[in-house]
Amino acid sequence: MGKVHVLDHPLIQHKVTYIRDKQTGTKEFRELVDEVAMLMAFEITRNLPLQEKTIETPVMEAQSQVLAGKKIGLIPILRAGLGMVDGMLKLIPAARVGHVGLYRDPETLKPHEYYLKLPSDIEERELIVIDPMLATGGSANDAIHSLKKRGAKQIRLMCLVAAPEGVEVIQNDHPDVDIFLAALDDKLNDHGYIVPGLGDAGDRLYGTK
Ligand code: PRP
Ligand code: URA
Repeated sequence: MGKVHVLDHPLIQHKVTYIRDKQTGTKEFRELVDEVAMLMAFEITRNLPLQEKTIETPVMEAQSQVLAGKKIGLIPILRAGLGMVDGMLKLIPAARVGHVGLYRDPETLKPHEYYLKLPSDIEERELIVIDPMLATGGSANDAIHSLKKRGAKQIRLMCLVAAPEGVEVIQNDHPDVDIFLAALDDKLNDHGYIVPGLGDAGDRLYGTK
């Protein structure tokens, strides 16, 4: 079963509190999501392999470590996932970015795919699926199925806030996928919103509704 990592760094937790706060306006919300995504990228890249490199310091020749060049792909789920891409690219600027367009039908809560554009070599890349919200799990689940169908072999899922219901869906359907969260909340309400959550992530990021 995939592991769930709740990234409880104090800076992440502090910023998530203000992301949740309904008084936080669009500009600040967007900035905070960007900052938390960058901090989460720091944690999610801990597994990156290193290799030895010989360099000359001003004092002597030395062996030091550099990234071994593992290929990474960021896969934001449109539209709210877009809000986390730039923050992650600040730390992993060479990552390729693919997009999965999904929206959740407000009545049925079922996801509908309307767009897909991926790097050509996804089977060689470690892919990080990005979405601020993991609610019923339907959107992330579909996105991961879609990537696997096209050859993806290594996938991680990164979300700001998740409901236990969504985590369970991913763990059951994709036991090979580890999940990285800033917070694991209590439950879903009758409308499929995460409780306490942060409301509608896309609307808060882009000032719609
Ligand atoms: C939101 C959110 C996730 C999805 C989570 O997207 O960004 O993609 O809901 O819900 P689920 O786990 O129950 O599938 P939404 O459909 O509102 O689209 P948007 O990002 O375009 O606003
Ligand atoms: N999508 C959101 O944006 N928020 C939720 O709480 C659930 C799904």
